[in-house]
Amino acid sequence: MNALNELREHARLAGEKLLEDLRFAGVTTNGWLNQERANFEMSRIMNACLDDLALTGCWGEANRVPSRALWKVAGETLAVGWLQNHARQKPRGYAGDFEMLEKIVYRTLSADPLGRAFDHFFQEQAAPEAVRSRTKLVAERIVRLLRASTKDNVHICSVGSGPALDIELACRELSPDERARLRVSLLDLDPEALVVAERRLTPLLHPAQLHAHRENLFRLPRLKRTDSLLKHADFIACTGMFDYLTDADAVAMLQCFWSHLNADGELLVFNFAPSNPSRAYMEWIGNWYLTYRDEAAVGNLVDEAIGGSHAAKFDREDSKASVYAVCHKSS
Ligand SMILES: C[S@@+](CC[C@H](N)C(=O)[O-])C[C@H]1O[C@@H](n2cnc3c(N)ncnc32)[C@H](O)[C@@H]1O
Repeated sequence: MNALNELREHARLAGEKLLEDLRFAGVTTNGWLNQERANFEMSRIMNACLDDLALTGCWGEANRVPSRALWKVAGETLAVGWLQNHARQKPRGYAGDFEMLEKIVYRTLSADPLGRAFDHFFQEQAAPEAVRSRTKLVAERIVRLLRASTKDNVHICSVGSGPALDIELACRELSPDERARLRVSLLDLDPEALVVAERRLTPLLHPAQLHAHRENLFRLPRLKRTDSLLKHADFIACTGMFDYLTDADAVAMLQCFWSHLNADGELLVFNFAPSNPSRAYMEWIGNWYLTYRDEAAVGNLVDEAIGGSHAAKFDREDSKASVYAVCHKSS
């Protein structure tokens, strides 16, 4: 048997074992209705399966083919978990779409008992924890920046904004008078994400304060209109995007952001770290592949894009699964 066939066979057997364990747990949890027991059993069974798959050492796109063998056997059952199935199917062409992000941030679970146990397992992973944590962190920085600024008009840009849950959270924290000083620009390729973002922000901002633009960010550094989109930005956040960019694209994007940032402005970018504990789950179950970078790798991008003279700080959000860089442009 060649290496790929061995991997496929390994994944097929892992799928059979998973199904068998889930069937047995279905009985001991009273059809997954005993929630405490269901969550415990789901975590034990899924982690055993993922630990076994991780031992193959097959990471990244290389596991796309063997993971099909796992889904062929256990896919019908795995699909009962809304979150993992949505990640796998990618109905909008990518995994982290606005529906997924809303469910992650608001910790939504399926009504179906088995689906609920799968969703609970998903929500307990470090990666969704990192998404919730970065959403709060971005909101807090917007609030802090607005309150520290004496300007009447503070321009906040979210690049790859998705449903703009972070900006909504910031708006809800600010008083109406404080909110009135915001100008918000959202950029995203997905028109539905922008519609959802506008629906969320419209009750909180005057229409003149909110600008949503459908843009392909890969073209941003080369577009003439980028100037008007990001002009005089006081804060640029880019979360959930760098994980999909090559180094060259990431550097071009950082240069573009930096050149549009006002003096005293702040740039905030996130990237999942190679230590992301959810990697096996994301890849084997969701075919969700990221470009991982640690502090040094993000630091290299920042150095190459904007040099070392500015104040860049690197940290991790609470879950520690993702790294962020804050770059402050001195006045
Ligand atoms: C993982 S989501 C992150 C959303 C939001 N920043 C957050 O953290 O909640 C990534 C977003 O990037 C958008 N996106 C992906 N590729 C893009 C591209 N080439 N141009 C513009 N937006 C893109 C997606 O539509 C999606 O809304």
